Amino acid sequence: MEAIEAKNLRKSFGPVTAVDNVSITIPEGGIFGFLGPNGAGKTTTIRMITGVLIPDTGTVQVLGTDVDKDPLTAKLKMGVIPENGTVYSDLTAEQNILITAKFFGMDRASRERRAGEILARLGLEERRNDIVRTFSKGMRQRISIACAIVHSPPVLILDEPTTGLDVYSRRLVIDTVRHMSEQGSTILLTTHNIEEANALCSMISIINKGKIVATGSPEKLKKTFDTSRYVEISFDQPVGPGLFSAPGITRAEPWGDKWRVFTDDPDRAVKHLASASERDHLTIVSIATSNPTLEEAFVRLTGDV
Ligand SMILES: Nc1ncnc2c1ncn2[C@@H]1O[C@H](COP(=O)(O)OP(=O)(O)O)[C@@H](O)[C@H]1O
Ligand SMILES: [Mg+2]
Repeated sequence: MEAIEAKNLRKSFGPVTAVDNVSITIPEGGIFGFLGPNGAGKTTTIRMITGVLIPDTGTVQVLGTDVDKDPLTAKLKMGVIPENGTVYSDLTAEQNILITAKFFGMDRASRERRAGEILARLGLEERRNDIVRTFSKGMRQRISIACAIVHSPPVLILDEPTTGLDVYSRRLVIDTVRHMSEQGSTILLTTHNIEEANALCSMISIINKGKIVATGSPEKLKKTFDTSRYVEISFDQPVGPGLFSAPGITRAEPWGDKWRVFTDDPDRAVKHLASASERDHLTIVSIATSNPTLEEAFVRLTGDV
């Protein structure tokens, strides 16, 4: 059984097709990232998966339960942190968690034990009795996450959980996501932050203009565009472009105080650069080879290049 199986989701708002035939299959375990620029359709997809928005067409199953036909059962299997996390501003940090636990039918002892555990994990222990209204955005987001994980959901869905957070809150949110994953929850998160997707996710779908344009592990997506390799090098004195004319080097450009030397064969290019600088009595000050990045894949797939 899949954790999430979404088939052929479509949603239009008037003339705008926000989600255009999106299908995603997320097996149990692992952290699945939904990566795309602003306006790509991430939130609309998440809202359909979590049963908040009815799709124009398509179906969603969460651990075998159809979200449209049996929304209550489906929702009990999910913890959801929506784009603008919802918290009760007039309650304290702890009351927010306790009341959510009660909605999920947990008994008093487990509510209290779990609330204590989560407050500590999210760095909120000292503020447990303070009214949430006074909290910063990062603290509110931590409460939102605390409420979403209180019933240890097998599937945890987070829409841009770290966007706009301070460094400390961001760290705690990411640690909590990793912890939930280690505890066996399947995670689906959206982000427009490529580094975050690269660091957290075992699988990524890249979405652009309502359509999925690529799916794979971060490493696989990087390799899709493994063609533009270069060596970045600097010397102790100015050099001319002639230094770089050699077999295997396609072109060289000045790049700040360095040169970028493009090549299909970095090994061959580095060996040439070493022997040419030896010959010309140049000292190499720095040298680095590029690795394909997820950013490159992302820009190629979503940009107009
Ligand atoms: N309730 C709505 N009414 C009208 N247009 C919407 C609504 N929700 C989203 N959209 C539009 O759908 C597109 C996708 O939005 P969204 O799913 O929020 O993207 P993302 O979360 O990737 O930034 C955007 O063009 C957005 O303006
Ligand atoms: Mg969004």
